[in-house]
Amino acid sequence: MRVLVAYSSKYGATRGIADRIADRLRDAGHEVDIEHCHDVEYPEGFDAFVIGSAAYLGKWRKEARRFVRHNHALLATRPVWLFSSGPLGTERIDKDGNDVLVAAQPKEFPEFEALIHPRGTTVFFGALDIEHLEGPDRIVSWMPANEALPAGDFRDWDAIDEWGRMVAADLAEQDA
Ligand SMILES: Cc1cc2nc3c(=O)[nH]c(=O)nc-3n(C[C@H](O)[C@H](O)[C@H](O)COP(=O)(O)O)c2cc1C
Repeated sequence: MRVLVAYSSKYGATRGIADRIADRLRDAGHEVDIEHCHDVEYPEGFDAFVIGSAAYLGKWRKEARRFVRHNHALLATRPVWLFSSGPLGTERIDKDGNDVLVAAQPKEFPEFEALIHPRGTTVFFGALDIEHLEGPDRIVSWMPANEALPAGDFRDWDAIDEWGRMVAADLAEQDA
């Protein structure tokens, strides 16, 4: 299977997740390209897609939203998985008793589920380096500590590897 891992990442955390998923797919013998959503020129050349974006203010980044909406007719005919990178910190349950990863689903997932029927969607913990924030994002570094997004790398590589292997196995089954 020729798989495209298409991602949108502002500061690199999501790119790292996309790379890791691509590695798990390659381990299983799939042919994998990895491209920024903005740079994909010929999506028709791929048999399957993993599409991921960082979430900002509850939404996927513009290039990723555009990629899905623009290519929805093609994507609806191929196996597709979506992942989002976002929540920060080590708590799995928030102060209201909700699962942090469920609560952090980007606004677009219900729309995309109806539009392209992905075989799976998931949310991974992300990473934030306050020192490197640019433009309006720097407001985070001026916020009081109890209101700020916690800084650090919270990416759960075991969960990412597990998901990548699950996608690889599902693809292999379809190819058989
Ligand atoms: C200004 C700002 C807003 C954010 N908003 C959200 C959000 O609404 N939901 C979420 O899950 N994560 C949010 N995050 C965390 C980022 O999604 C997380 O740091 C992500 O892993 C960054 O990925 P990137 O480096 O690929 O851009 C926000 C981060 C910043 C700096």
